[in-house]
This record gives sequence, structure tokens and C-alpha cells, in this order.
Amino acid sequence: KPSSEVVTRVKNLHSISIGRWEIETWYYSPLPPEYCNLRTLYICEFTLKFFRTKDGLLRHLARNTRWHPPGQEIYRKENLAVFEVDGARNRFYCQNICYISKLFLDHKTLYYDVDPFLFYVLCEIDSFGYHFVGYFSKEKASEENYNVACILTLPPYQRKGYGKFLIALSYELSRREGIRGSPEKPLSDLGLLGYRSYWSQVLIDLLMQAKTPLSIEDIANLTMMKTEDIIGTLRALDLVHYHEGQHIIDLRRVQHMRLGNRGMPFDPQYLRWTPPT
Ligand code: ACO
Repeated sequence: KPSSEVVTRVKNLHSISIGRWEIETWYYSPLPPEYCNLRTLYICEFTLKFFRTKDGLLRHLARNTRWHPPGQEIYRKENLAVFEVDGARNRFYCQNICYISKLFLDHKTLYYDVDPFLFYVLCEIDSFGYHFVGYFSKEKASEENYNVACILTLPPYQRKGYGKFLIALSYELSRREGIRGSPEKPLSDLGLLGYRSYWSQVLIDLLMQAKTPLSIEDIANLTMMKTEDIIGTLRALDLVHYHEGQHIIDLRRVQHMRLGNRGMPFDPQYLRWTPPT
């Protein structure tokens, strides 16, 4: 008899159809029973309602009048927008985000209680509406100062810089809150790659521009990154060594570092957001 551990890992859906994409799923998700064991689950990309058939989705779209996520539009630049959606106010929408993201995440348990979270939903805009690209969730109050609980870019949009865009947004929220942040642990393999890439880019940029020597504490204040993430990244880049109780950054080596794909720049000027009081 397979252990429950094995049972929970069996994929229960072949694909999802969302917007113009049919996306093969990666992992099991504890979907409501009526949506399990279908070949394809049809999802409205605006309301995130689930349908068992394409006809069901088409009938919904014919009646639908909202072509963007619920909540507040907090960022808009060119064809990119971000909505802040409150889990307590839009419970159904946010629970469905969690079901969808579990299809691409192996290591997270799914929390049905979305009330304590805010969801930041990134969309690409065209004449048909706001197309769901990815999101991150964030606890309204995190004891550990996590600034991201869960992050996802839908597979067709991956490796284009949207992950780094979302991570940059999460650090800008931390900046405005005045609290250094870090993503919730453990990170998935892809999560670690995405964060390492973002952190490396931010640190190399900062160190290249630095006119005076910077301490780890200075860097934390400038980036809103936690010191352990700064030191871990500088170590992985082989830019730091520990000498007589201090971390020494090797600035000469920074000049020779090559940066990866810059992706989608996040522009803080276009963020209309202040921390909730
Ligand atoms: N292989 C190797 N490196 C990768 C890959 C990959 N498949 N995907 C991303 N990376 C690395 C690269 O270094 C990339 O930078 P580069 O293109 O400059 O080389 C960097 O990550 C960032 O890439 P982006 O395009 O900005 O990120 P993307 O939009 O692909 O999103 C994310 C990254 C969100 C982690 C995505 O892979 C995803 O949704 N994965 C499934 C869900 C998941 O694992 N989420 C993280 C869980 S941890 C947590 O939630 C706190």
C-alpha cells in the first residue's frame, strides 16, 4: 500500500487552460473534488473561476464584465499592471490562486485560510483585458518579517524576468514599510535560482556604483535585504571573505562580474502604495 506521502504526490490534472494558454501541470493540488481527475481544468483568467468544460468557461466569459483581477490597481507602467487583492475580501479568488500555484509547487502545504494574506497579481494588458502572468502572496503581519510567502510565474511567462519584477516589487513594499524582508523558507529550487539571480544583480549593481566602502549593514539599509541573504549571496559569488571578525568585500572582483538577463524592470515611481496603518 503506498504511503500517504506517495499518494499526495500523484498529479491529479494533466493541464490547465487559462487565457490563451494550455499549460501542463507539474504537481498535485488538492482541488475541490469536482475539479479533480479531469484532463484539463478551464480557468477564467480574470475571475479565476474553475470550469470542467470549455463550454462552461465560454458561457461564463460571455456573461463576464470584469477583465481584470479584483482589488486595487497599485502599479501601472506601459502594458504591465499589479493589483493588490485582500485574501479576506476576495477569498474565492485568492483560494483559487493557491490551488493554481500548488500545481507548480511541490514543497508548500496549501493554506485554505487566505484571510491573513495579501496577493499581488501581475498582469500583461492588451485590448482584450488584463492577462494573469504571476503573483506573490504576503502575510499581512509576519513575525519573521517574510516579505513573500509564495511566488509564481505561470510557466509560459517564465524566464522572461517577471519573477525578478515581482521580487523587486516585494522589496519596494518592504522599503516603504521600513522593514528588511526575506522570502518564506524553504525556497523551491526555482525559487532559490530566481532569488539568487535577483540578489546578485542588486548587490553587483550597488557595489559597482559605490563611491565609498560599504558595510553589510549599509547594504542591508540600501536594499532592504536581510544580512544573511546578503552574506549568502556574496559568498556564492565569491565576493566576500571573513577576516578578524569582519566580512570583507572584494571590490576589485566586482568590476569583472557579468550580469544576467535584466528582464522586466520594475519602476518604483509607478507604484501607488503606502503601508496600511
Ligand atoms: N533554470 C535555470 N535558472 C532559472 C530557471 C530555470 N528553469 N528559471 C529561473 N531561473 C533563474 C535564472 O537565473 C533567472 O535569471 P536569468 O534569466 O537572468 O538567468 C532567474 O531565475 C530569474 O528569472 P525570472 O525570469 O525573473 O523568473 P521567472 O519569471 O521564471 O520566475 C519563479 C521565477 C517565480 C521561481 C518561477 O520559476 C516559478 O513560478 N516556479 C514555480 C513555483 C516556485 O517554485 N516558486 C517559488 C517557491 S519559493 C517561495 O514561494 C518563497
